[in-house]
Amino acid sequence: MKRHADSNGPLDVRLKDGTPIVIRRACSRDADDLARLDQALVSEGLWTVRDPRERVSVVEELKRIASYDAPDRLLLVALERGRVIGETALKAHKVARCAHVATFSISVAGEYRGRGVGRALMGAACAWADSHPTIEKLELFVFSSNDRALSLYKTFGFVVEGRRERYVRFGPTTYVDDLVMGRLCPKAAGNPRNG
Ligand SMILES: CC(C)(COP(=O)(O)OP(=O)(O)OC[C@H]1O[C@@H](n2cnc3c(N)ncnc32)[C@H](O)[C@@H]1OP(=O)(O)O)[C@@H](O)C(=O)NCCC(=O)NCCS
Repeated sequence: MKRHADSNGPLDVRLKDGTPIVIRRACSRDADDLARLDQALVSEGLWTVRDPRERVSVVEELKRIASYDAPDRLLLVALERGRVIGETALKAHKVARCAHVATFSISVAGEYRGRGVGRALMGAACAWADSHPTIEKLELFVFSSNDRALSLYKTFGFVVEGRRERYVRFGPTTYVDDLVMGRLCPKAAGNPRNG
């Protein structure tokens, strides 16, 4: 993906089946859709540490969207016919010594999964990070049971850096490990500080 969804405006993408979608920065009018997307995700109860009681409200989404209006943050939405069908976020750490590291997250609406939306969003987010003046590394956290997400992340160069055993408890005796994954941006690869 050559163009960037933030600096050059909306990005037109075709999914594998030819469906046209648009990727652009989130704005306040997306708050309702993003809250609905989050509600559906937490209701699935599979892929997030939050349970359905901890869903994000429309007001919280509005605040979140505003908080991403910063040079070292990116909140993108994917839209099909004007409706939000996925989102991805990158947020650099605030502390100075880790400000070169941005945390990545992504979510695609259930009925659109496996059609290329996640790949398109991730491509746009990685392209933004790779050309960012200060971000050198991306990190993310993913359940070890999330095969689809793991497969996507690996194709973008993320590697498993650690495993937090039994980090998530679904029930009295049901736990899932959480993986820490990292990806050095190409511009940082030759940096001696990166070893
Ligand atoms: C993980 C997620 C973001 C991926 O987005 P997506 O739109 O479904 O993914 P894509 O269709 O772009 O597929 C990307 C890759 O995933 C892999 N993949 C797709 N479907 C898969 C499946 N059923 N099982 C395993 N891997 C699969 C493929 O490697 C695919 O690569 P390809 O384009 O070469 O075929 C999405 O499924 C999702 O939102 N899941 C629920 C929330 C979640 O898990 N978020 C991440 C938490 S860390």
